[in-house]
Amino acid sequence: MIKKCLFPVAGYGTRFLPATKAMPKEILPIVNKPLVQYGVEEASEAGINEFGFVTGRGKRAIEDHFDISYELEHQIAGTGKEDLLTSIRDLINNNTFAFTRQNEMKGLGHAILTGRNLVGDSPFAVVLADDFCVTPEGEDGVLTQMVKLYKQFRCSIVAIEEVPKNETHKYGVIAGETMKDGLYRITDMVEKPSPDKAPSNLAIIGRYILTPDIFEIIENTKPGKNGEVQITDALLEQARNGCVLAYQFRGKRFDCGSIEGFVEATNYVYENVYLKNKEKKK
Ligand code: G1P
Repeated sequence: MIKKCLFPVAGYGTRFLPATKAMPKEILPIVNKPLVQYGVEEASEAGINEFGFVTGRGKRAIEDHFDISYELEHQIAGTGKEDLLTSIRDLINNNTFAFTRQNEMKGLGHAILTGRNLVGDSPFAVVLADDFCVTPEGEDGVLTQMVKLYKQFRCSIVAIEEVPKNETHKYGVIAGETMKDGLYRITDMVEKPSPDKAPSNLAIIGRYILTPDIFEIIENTKPGKNGEVQITDALLEQARNGCVLAYQFRGKRFDCGSIEGFVEATNYVYENVYLKNKEKKK
């Protein structure tokens, strides 16, 4: 039912300079896989098979990553290294990838609106690859959890988690009425509030399911925080006229937009995925 996912990937990744001078931050590897591929795998597990990327200048490596590299495949065919390409090859074979450019950086809301022609008129997911999410083996990924909720409620949903009060200025923060454990109906939403202005400590993390009426709302949303068109403001408008849910997901999230979060995620994947797989192969 949710078949499409949008990845806004036009950001510069300045926190990772000089690493991101000539390379998109989304291609930085967590162990041996680019950050963005983890996001695509999470969405694919949720039943999504059409991927749209809102890119920008200097981001062509992302397109190349989701395309076949004949030379490389030819080189390693029949060697022990073929296995290393299986995960990306499977994604390429079973999904479509489309790209469009956001030529000016005017905020996340504007980036999502730029992806409109890739999404069309159906509900869709949005993944911010910087927010790297993991769930214990055998449990639903975060987007799978959200798609299940969408089937039940048929309205926009944002993923949230509790953050320390002194970090609210990094996130969109919600207030809502509790519907059941971990599920809120949004009554207020503020983009990057200082702790004294934050309506709660429930912060939005980079997983959204949006109904397509959001595009028209974004078109009519004035620039907000930092002079940018904020998806948070558009969602508040949608919540006021209908319903938007906030879902406290099961799982763990790493802020890979920061060096600390990136290193933590790397250590986590190394210990919990890489070493375990190596052990299994023995
Ligand atoms: C964006 C959103 C913010 C959200 C965050 C999650 O901010 O604007 O509401 O909480 O992603 O990572 P950014 O981190 O792009 O500044």
